[in-house]
Amino acid sequence: MSVRRLHPEQPKNFAFTPENEAWAAATIAKYPPGKQASAVIPLLMRAQEQHKNWLPEPAIRHVAEKLGMAYIRVYEVATFYTQFQLGPVGTTAHVQVCGTTPCMLRGAEGLKDVCRKKIHTDQFHLSADGAFSWEEVECAGTCANAPMVQIFADTYEDLTPELLEKVIDGYARGTPPKPGSQIGRKASSPAGGFTALTDPALYDGSTLGGWQHRLAEIDAKSALTAAASASATAPEKKP
Ligand code: FES
Repeated sequence: MSVRRLHPEQPKNFAFTPENEAWAAATIAKYPPGKQASAVIPLLMRAQEQHKNWLPEPAIRHVAEKLGMAYIRVYEVATFYTQFQLGPVGTTAHVQVCGTTPCMLRGAEGLKDVCRKKIHTDQFHLSADGAFSWEEVECAGTCANAPMVQIFADTYEDLTPELLEKVIDGYARGTPPKPGSQIGRKASSPAGGFTALTDPALYDGSTLGGWQHRLAEIDAKSALTAAASASATAPEKKP
């Protein structure tokens, strides 16, 4: 788990743009009176997007004032969730590598090596051209497709070091690959293909009502078994 601290260099102030101000007012209005604090995460996200994808301290304060919350309460939210960046990130991509157990067991260390090689030897540092940055984060919720990385709002899953290099190169060219599994599997379906429910007849309707025949077979078999057992236990008739 990384230590999350505010960046030492901060802008003097922060204010939403008129467009974001209107959006913030509409977002806050979605919540009943007295529950405006529920808008804290969307407002922080919007502030981050406005400020080159990282959240400066004046923005945290601005959101706290807007929602009538104690500054420390908003600070706690901003420093807890890794979706909030507390320092400058790459202008093209900030690569968040999941290092939690399923991803770690499936090769997250190799993904971190790619970031060290292609971006910077240390996390939270910008690449030489300022276009990329990376960090290790905790579980991002796509464990079934481990290992994975998250880049802004997208996730790239089923990665190998080679596939992550392709993802990063795609961002560098301005043509990032399609998010999701990078080995072509659908959602989190089995990596080696389906092993159950593979008979197409299960879905074409031809087996509809089959359960009734099966029940009749079971009933007939039970009746035969019961008759055989009754005749075996019946007392022999004396001549
Ligand atoms: S452990 Fe990596 S996404 Fe959950």
